[in-house]
Amino acid sequence: MVPPHPNPSASIASWKYDEVKPLLLSAGDIIGAEEAERRVLMLVNPSLTAPYTTDSIYAGLQLILPEETAPAHRHVAFALRFIIEGTDGFTAVEGEKITMEKGDVILTPSWHWHDHGNENKEGKPMIWLDGLDLPLYRYLPVNFAEPYAEKRYPSTPVKESKLRFPWANVQRQLDSVEGDYAIYHYRHEDGSHLSKTLSAQAERIAAGTVTKKKRETTSFVYHVYEGKGYSTILLPDGKTEQVVNWNPRDTFTVPAWAQVSHTCSHEAGQAYLFAINDRPMVEALGLSREQ
Ligand SMILES: [Fe+2]
Repeated sequence: MVPPHPNPSASIASWKYDEVKPLLLSAGDIIGAEEAERRVLMLVNPSLTAPYTTDSIYAGLQLILPEETAPAHRHVAFALRFIIEGTDGFTAVEGEKITMEKGDVILTPSWHWHDHGNENKEGKPMIWLDGLDLPLYRYLPVNFAEPYAEKRYPSTPVKESKLRFPWANVQRQLDSVEGDYAIYHYRHEDGSHLSKTLSAQAERIAAGTVTKKKRETTSFVYHVYEGKGYSTILLPDGKTEQVVNWNPRDTFTVPAWAQVSHTCSHEAGQAYLFAINDRPMVEALGLSREQ
């Protein structure tokens, strides 16, 4: 009944961008964004089924082609997006039309109308990493969605938004810390996490260095913004260790209570990792623990 250590069901998993991007683009040939409502390559943990990427986080890669619209809807689930590639894409949230640029984090809080579009004139796709708290609703079945009557919820372009966290600000924070390693926790202006369920962090690892081994009751979906290296991950059983090699735009999981250290390869310069985490839920329930 009570295991001797935390016992996540999720396994260590990784998705190489070079391998999954062609699959996502081929989905673009098969189905339109409007027909799909959201065209997403779900990153399903191989030890679990959808919607689990970790035990508590759902993640997927979403594609919007030029002139497409992912129609407006709202839902109970919270979502955050980490923009991977593309220009001239937008997410409109409750009237704010927010341009999406590489490295940005854009939030769609619970029950906020939102739609996505791509106004690029050169045929370039917009691709981003979605993070949602969908696994939570397996235990609390209160998530549902409502479609908006029109394709787009009325919105006007904004330069700044409390729902957008530009990468330049995050990198400035990381680079302002001396030493080989820095971590930045995304927070709202009032100091609160990005939501009551999921939040995010970014880390800088200097070239040729290894981060201290650490484990937390938080689980993570990591995404490589820049750099090359590998992460050594030991599962809570203390026996199963895996090395996940990574390159820019790759995504990988760190299950709860898995011990992790990141290594940045020498020749590639420093690395910047982004991660979605379930820290708000874990903290709110008094389950936060780290070693
Ligand atoms: Fe949505």
